[in-house]
Amino acid sequence: MDLLLLYLLLFLSFCIFLTQAHSAAVWNNVSDQQSLLGLKAQITFDPNNFLSGWSPNTSFCEWRGVICFPHVERVRALNMSATGSEGAISPLTGNLSSLQSLDVSNNALGGPIPPQLGRLSNAEELLLYGNHLEGDIPASLSGCRRLVTFAASYNRLQGSVPAELALLTHLERLVLGGNFLEGTIPSSLGNLTSLIELTLEMNNLTGSILVEVGMFTRLQTVYLHTNQLSGIIPSSIGNLSAMTDLELSTNNLTGPIPVEVGMLTKLQTLYLYTNQLSGTIPSSIGNLSAMTDLDLSINNLRGSIPVEIRMLIQLKRLFLHINQMSGSIPVDVDNNLLSGSIPYGIKNFQLLGRFVLRKNRLKGNILDEIGQMKSLGSLDVSWNQLSGGIPDSLGELQQLRRLVLHHNRFSGAILVGLSRCPNLELVDFSHNELEGNIPGEFLTSLKNIQFYLNFSWNFFQGPLPKEISTIVSAQAIDISGNQLGEEIPGVL
Ligand SMILES: *[C@@H]1O[C@H](CO)[C@@H](O)[C@H](O)[C@H]1NC(C)=O
Ligand SMILES: *[C@@H]1O[C@H](CO)[C@@H](O)[C@H](O)[C@H]1NC(C)=O
Ligand SMILES: *[C@@H]1O[C@H](CO)[C@@H](O)[C@H](O)[C@H]1NC(C)=O
Ligand SMILES: *[C@@H]1O[C@H](CO)[C@@H](O)[C@H](O)[C@H]1NC(C)=O
Ligand SMILES: *[C@@H]1O[C@H](CO)[C@@H](O)[C@H](O)[C@H]1NC(C)=O
Ligand SMILES: *[C@@H]1O[C@H](CO)[C@@H](O)[C@H](O)[C@H]1NC(C)=O
Ligand SMILES: *[C@@H]1O[C@H](CO)[C@@H](O)[C@H](O)[C@H]1NC(C)=O
Ligand SMILES: *[C@@H]1O[C@H](CO)[C@@H](O)[C@H](O)[C@H]1NC(C)=O
Ligand SMILES: *[C@@H]1O[C@H](CO)[C@@H](O)[C@H](O)[C@H]1NC(C)=O
Ligand SMILES: *[C@@H]1O[C@H](CO)[C@@H](O)[C@H](O)[C@H]1NC(C)=O
Repeated sequence: MDLLLLYLLLFLSFCIFLTQAHSAAVWNNVSDQQSLLGLKAQITFDPNNFLSGWSPNTSFCEWRGVICFPHVERVRALNMSATGSEGAISPLTGNLSSLQSLDVSNNALGGPIPPQLGRLSNAEELLLYGNHLEGDIPASLSGCRRLVTFAASYNRLQGSVPAELALLTHLERLVLGGNFLEGTIPSSLGNLTSLIELTLEMNNLTGSILVEVGMFTRLQTVYLHTNQLSGIIPSSIGNLSAMTDLELSTNNLTGPIPVEVGMLTKLQTLYLYTNQLSGTIPSSIGNLSAMTDLDLSINNLRGSIPVEIRMLIQLKRLFLHINQMSGSIPVDVDNNLLSGSIPYGIKNFQLLGRFVLRKNRLKGNILDEIGQMKSLGSLDVSWNQLSGGIPDSLGELQQLRRLVLHHNRFSGAILVGLSRCPNLELVDFSHNELEGNIPGEFLTSLKNIQFYLNFSWNFFQGPLPKEISTIVSAQAIDISGNQLGEEIPGVL
């Protein structure tokens, strides 16, 4: 019953489109067949013989990649995705007047997007991405009034994004990244209030981010990264309450990160790196509890990192390096100007895999709390002024592969707790003030060392336990600059 109803509905919508077609040409199964054969004729190389069965001796509804309407011999969908085809898209494709879905993605098709595609007034998706298409995006595509998805990313398209695309009021996905598009993002696109995905990354777009972006309340994904966009990030982005993924990195954006960013409570990825953003990181960022990836590195941000950042408990990747921040904070702040201590609360970063605080001016000790960052695979606090003992709790870090503590003032003995990390591949304790015997139990636990083990330039005392011989997979073991006894070679 349901199926019958579906057929009826499809048939009805088909009749509606027929009455809407006001071209002089007669669109029927004969014109569809001619158009498909015309399309085939423009394919110069078909390595998988995808089109070999496209021959008039069978109904085109049987042809590979062609889907007709039930009970009506007209093309509803054409899928030639990833067939390895070379050649061009025939202008006759525009004569498939009943076509709802065209997928020629991931081939090696060249030439232009035929302006005739704009006649596909029933098309809901045009998937042209991953080819070698060149020339402009035809403004005539605004004729595809029912278009929901237009994806032509990763081609060689030039010119600007046509303002006329604003007429596509049903558009939910505009996917044009990885081309040679230039000019500004037309403000008329602000009319596309149904947009869910806007991806224009890796082009040469200039101008500023539309203030109109605030109208896109359904937007979930915005990729504008790797363009030449300038100006500020408009505070109207605070309206984008559905947003999950915002990537504006590698542009020329200036001004502060708007406080309103804190209203994007569904945000999972925020990439603003490699811009010229200034000011401080707004504390409202602590509202973004769904965040997994935050990268604000390589900007001109100053001030301290807001303590609210600790509320981002889903965080897996966090990069803030090469800014001008001060103060103390729990995050990946490689080569920054951080001073102060590693703050309490870092245990909240249970999903963080890398924790890099290299080359800062941190003082104090490594908190016991780090032992609760259960996903930690890499801990690098080298080149700071950290002191005190290496906490036994690091033994709780079952995922830890790299432990890099060199060039600090860590003191005391290596505690046997560390022997509980089964996956260490690289350990560097060099240039600290560690002392006492190196426990044999610890050496036995290092059976997975793949890179090196560096104890050099501490105050370790001999004798070196015989368990050192169990470490066979290391590329180097460096014990120089200690008092481990003369019979021990410096570097094995
Ligand atoms: C078109 O449809 C008519 C009537 O069903 C049929 O006789 C004819 O063979 C079809 N032509 C093509 C090219 O499919
Ligand atoms: C395609 O459509 C155009 C414009 O309506 C028409 O002039 C042409 O004859 C059609 N071609 C075929 C093969 O149907
Ligand atoms: C249709 O014609 C092609 C050649 O054009 C041939 O290879 C194929 O076997 C024919 N199919 C049928 C069903 O006759
Ligand atoms: C086209 O076919 C491929 C598999 O061959 C599939 O992954 C893709 O989703 C199809 N496209 C459409 C629009 O259905
Ligand atoms: C952007 O424009 C510059 C200068 O016009 C050009 O050198 C560069 O290749 C362009 N890049 C892209 C991705 O279009
Ligand atoms: C966008 O909408 C405004 C009114 O909401 C209208 O004046 C303008 O012409 C529209 N632009 C386009 C390109 O559709
Ligand atoms: C935010 O959205 C509201 C409606 O939801 C709209 O009235 C307002 O103009 C938008 N603000 C901006 C800055 O776009
Ligand atoms: C980026 O902005 C700076 C300063 O505002 C300017 O000097 C530079 O030319 C801009 N670069 C581009 C590619 O727009
Ligand atoms: C976001 O954070 C700010 C500052 O932390 C706070 O004042 C505001 O109430 C929060 N807003 C929401 C929507 O949670
Ligand atoms: C051990 O560390 C010292 C100082 O940090 C360094 O000079 C040496 O090359 C390192 N040894 C190995 C084997 O990596």
